[in-house]
Amino acid sequence: MPRSVLELFNEIKAETGSSQTARWIVAEAISTPYYQALLLGLEVQDASIAKAQGFVERLQRGEPIQYVLGRWGFRDLELIVDSRALIPRPETEVVVEMAIRNLSRKALEHPRVLELGTGSGACAIAIATEVKGSYVLATDLSTEALSLATTNLEAHKGRISGQVELLLADWFSAVDPAEQAMIERGRFDLILSNPPYINQVDYDHLDPVVRNWEPKSALLSGKAGTEQLETILEKAPRYLNKGASVILEMDPSQVERVAKFARSVGYQCKIFRDLAERERGLVATRPTIEE
Ligand SMILES: C[S@@+](CC[C@H](N)C(=O)[O-])C[C@H]1O[C@@H](n2cnc3c(N)ncnc32)[C@H](O)[C@@H]1O
Repeated sequence: MPRSVLELFNEIKAETGSSQTARWIVAEAISTPYYQALLLGLEVQDASIAKAQGFVERLQRGEPIQYVLGRWGFRDLELIVDSRALIPRPETEVVVEMAIRNLSRKALEHPRVLELGTGSGACAIAIATEVKGSYVLATDLSTEALSLATTNLEAHKGRISGQVELLLADWFSAVDPAEQAMIERGRFDLILSNPPYINQVDYDHLDPVVRNWEPKSALLSGKAGTEQLETILEKAPRYLNKGASVILEMDPSQVERVAKFARSVGYQCKIFRDLAERERGLVATRPTIEE
């Protein structure tokens, strides 16, 4: 039976225990922003009620709200999100902010950026939209993640036509002359990555809403958790222009250790914090290796 927006909201709020979740679900089910629907006094039809109830059932089975809604905000973008790739996190918005500041200080006309492990494409698309004239080569080892990134890129292509290229690659293999002899991709003004950085023990104890739904290959690094971060730091210099930086996201507990490693292989490091004031990553800079 049709009901008012407020009636549906109250039902869903009672079932989920969250006003915010109820507003998101109602809005998605009726394809109208929640407050706009209230103001217009819309009547919710049976099909939309069934849709909202389907969302609630998925939530009750433990699925993350972002996958249930099928889209999520990242900086000023709205991205399609599903189980093919990690849900973009607010802490990663800070990584993008660091990247944008780093590039704007250089004031290059056409900065070249390499993103390793792009997942949904969130960072690559955000940088391309926010840094005028930039080119972002974004790679991932997961074909599923790349298919989602392609969908997101397509959805935003009006703003960033030709600025982002997506490639299937194992870290630097897309730009390694030894593996890609036919493709001269040159060096980059910035490399950024939010690689998998969770160790096996922590992975086994992750919140089920993450462990059971988000791709393991996006989260689990190895026994120590810092393996992928160290691999990227070791290999990056030969792909960087002189004075360019590597910007990495990691767990706050890893920052000190990874900064020590980065300094030991010749980088100067600046640590940055996330919105909760936790140490969240590194801006690592070192002279390019001449080969
Ligand atoms: C933590 S997720 C980050 C996704 C996205 N950049 C974000 O911040 O939301 C890590 C990504 O790295 C990718 N990845 C893991 N191992 C990789 C490898 N060896 N080479 C390239 N990408 C890899 C995963 O598939 C995943 O999409």
